[in-house]
Amino acid sequence: MPVLAGLRRRFADAQAFRGVRIGACLHITPETANLVRAFAAGGAEVWLAASNPLSTQPDVAAALAAEPRIEVRAEPADVADLESYYLHIGSVLDAGPDIVVDDGCDLISALHTRPSEQRTGVRAGCEATSGGVVRLRAMQRAGVLKIPVVALHSGGARQLLDGAYGTGQSTIDAVLRSTNALLAGARVVVAGYGGCGRGVAESARGLGASVIVTEVDPLRALEAAMSGFTVLPMDEAARRGDVFITVTGNRDVISARHFALMRDGAIVANAGHFDVEVDVRWLAANAVDIRRGIRPNADEYALPDGRRLVLLAQGRVVNLAAADGHPPSVMDVSFATQALTVAWLVEHADALPAGVHDLPPASMTRSPDSSWPPSASRSTRCPRCRPAI
Ligand code: NAI
Repeated sequence: MPVLAGLRRRFADAQAFRGVRIGACLHITPETANLVRAFAAGGAEVWLAASNPLSTQPDVAAALAAEPRIEVRAEPADVADLESYYLHIGSVLDAGPDIVVDDGCDLISALHTRPSEQRTGVRAGCEATSGGVVRLRAMQRAGVLKIPVVALHSGGARQLLDGAYGTGQSTIDAVLRSTNALLAGARVVVAGYGGCGRGVAESARGLGASVIVTEVDPLRALEAAMSGFTVLPMDEAARRGDVFITVTGNRDVISARHFALMRDGAIVANAGHFDVEVDVRWLAANAVDIRRGIRPNADEYALPDGRRLVLLAQGRVVNLAAADGHPPSVMDVSFATQALTVAWLVEHADALPAGVHDLPPASMTRSPDSSWPPSASRSTRCPRCRPAI
């Protein structure tokens, strides 16, 4: 990860985070370790919790915990449960962070359930996922978001690389590792044609799959159709698919009525951030037999009519739970954006109003006189337009 390594040297020379406590809730992977080390090298004290019960790599967590100025609160995937997951998030908040770095918005949500006097030390935050930003914008609309938060997925490089290439390749990698299915000739149903869904659909097509897209946004559905994918509602796609992958950020995308239509042996996985896209509870409640671990990260549910459905990674984010997540070259760019954003927040957080802030367009970040982000009275339009605002 050469970009992050360069930033780490820069932060170390400038001691850019001296005296700053960073509370982070991130997938604990080798790539995340490089981000955390860059913060620590810059003088920060970092408290890190896992951002998903199944995505912690124990060797990485142990290696980080052995380093100075880094505290890790996480458990290996096979023992993690939701209770300990939230306890760890709570202990990161108890440490009194100045800046919070989130992936999914669980940390920032938990912060806002606390009494206001316990939040005052937190100056700002950043959020990595689009799903997390949906939650943040809902908090903002409800008037409960009390800190400024930068939406990292709004950054151009991140949008380009993360979903289209990182999620795409690693999600298909996870399906292959867990099933050894032949995708050539298989009908792969991808639910959601956002940044990530596009990547998953293209990666599946690249292996010879016949890809069906389901999408509730008509423009995106049109885009999928114009890119050569078959577009169908899930009620129809459920009858046809061999492999199903949800990646919408929405809930109940595959539910009881879809399971009822699926063919024997269908494989179901979710690459969205939260485990609510596939109705796993219905499967668990209605299966007459569940065979866990028929292959790594694959459980087989036998239904009363004799069909068997295979669920990967318990319906949790499959590319992190059953594969290695985004490749390091993708995360290098993503985490470089994240690291620079945190460095920027250390200097400027107090001038930012509470609310969700997008990253500046790439053209502004190149401009030497660009002044991002907007104050309450300024818009994010191009600097050349400023006199007219
Ligand atoms: P996005 O918002 O760009 O795209 C999601 C798409 O799903 C939208 O076009 C939306 O209209 C569609 N959608 C919503 N409900 C639907 C439904 N019921 N059926 C069909 N389509 C539906 O979001 P993006 O960036 O593609 O992310 C999607 C999810 O993946 C989020 O939960 C995000 O947090 C997560 N994510 C996962 C990553 C991973 O490594 N697995 C990496 C980055 C994001």
